[in-house]
Amino acid sequence: MNAVVVERVTKVFNRGRSDEVVALSEVLPAPGVYVTRTEDRDGRSWPSVTNVGYRPTFGGKELSIETYLLEGLEGETPGQIRVEFLRRLRDEKKFESPEQLKSQILRDVRRAQAYFRRVPCHNN
Ligand SMILES: Cc1cc2nc3c(=O)[nH]c(=O)nc-3n(C[C@H](O)[C@H](O)[C@H](O)COP(=O)(O)O)c2cc1C
Repeated sequence: MNAVVVERVTKVFNRGRSDEVVALSEVLPAPGVYVTRTEDRDGRSWPSVTNVGYRPTFGGKELSIETYLLEGLEGETPGQIRVEFLRRLRDEKKFESPEQLKSQILRDVRRAQAYFRRVPCHNN
């Protein structure tokens, strides 16, 4: 597949549910951008790229985890996902503009796609 739809499915944690975030931050990798594999409870899985961080470009204060799927989501949006961290790509940074951040995210996506060409994501 070569034309890839990047679809943001979920922010795992909503702003405000800070106890969960605190608990989770103990097991989370350091803030940054990662190649990830996302799985739902029905055994569906997707290659993905995930930002763990504070979104400094937008002055964010709370830790959030954002996962973008690299393949289109067909069927139901998963209610709960498991995100497996496979490879760290970079630190989270503050960008001068949302456009610059967007270009960087597209580069992150391309690096993640290259990763999954070497190491396929699906078990089947
Ligand atoms: C792959 C990826 C990389 C990201 N890298 C950064 C980053 O380096 N710096 C940053 O401030 N936000 C980063 N973000 C988070 C964006 O700020 C976030 O997606 C954006 O604020 C849109 O959120 P909103 O729709 O809630 O406004 C990244 C998000 C993704 C998915």
